[in-house]
Amino acid sequence: MLYLYETINLDYVNRIVMKHQLKLRSILGTIDELRIFPKYEKFVISIPCSEYDAEFQLNILNINLEKIKEPILDLGCGSNAKLVYYLRRLGMEAYGIDRTIKNTLYAIKADWFEYELKPNYWGTIISHLSFKNHFRRNHFKKNGNHIAYARKYMELLDSLKPSGEFYYTPDLPFIEQFLSSDSYIVEKNDIKDIGGFFEYNEPLNIQSVKIKKINS
Ligand SMILES: C[S@@+](CC[C@H](N)C(=O)[O-])C[C@H]1O[C@@H](n2cnc3c(N)ncnc32)[C@H](O)[C@@H]1O
Repeated sequence: MLYLYETINLDYVNRIVMKHQLKLRSILGTIDELRIFPKYEKFVISIPCSEYDAEFQLNILNINLEKIKEPILDLGCGSNAKLVYYLRRLGMEAYGIDRTIKNTLYAIKADWFEYELKPNYWGTIISHLSFKNHFRRNHFKKNGNHIAYARKYMELLDSLKPSGEFYYTPDLPFIEQFLSSDSYIVEKNDIKDIGGFFEYNEPLNIQSVKIKKINS
């Protein structure tokens, strides 16, 4: 047992954490619907739940600010809406939605399912590791809410004005394949090594996506 007054021995703590992970793996590995313990992986796959700097997000999503179309919506922008305020400082009309918003000047504190989007309104929608991450997880879970996510995804595309663009990561091949090429152009970019940001520098196998609504 570890007492507070003892000097913390990091090796000892690491061993406890690893033991705990292995136990968790053996229990949760039997619940296939979670899909967070693939058989070939030793430890839990972490699900990112952080906020990232604006430049980092723009880089990952391959967004060129000189060509970005307004108004801009960041869906799941994080409690500090970093990207929204960064774009505002550059004089752009940007807004965010997140259920954990702190400053509500340009960001709305709401659940994305409860916020109805106007059709043909947004020039750009951005969703970095937020709506899409949750959609992906719900798609793979047996009892996931994938229908609600698929509906919202289509509502998001519908809310783009002609030539409007939707940027997100991770990619969602299971739904992107059904988008009509008469209405949308889907472009994907491999996310490569980004300067050792990710732990262990593992190959990422993640893509960022741009969907452009075709004028019609
Ligand atoms: C990994 S964070 C990414 C935040 C930001 N996009 C960034 O890259 O810094 C995911 C965000 O999605 C938000 N989120 C998750 N489910 C949500 C929901 N149902 N409605 C609104 N926001 C949600 C969380 O509050 C969190 O801030």
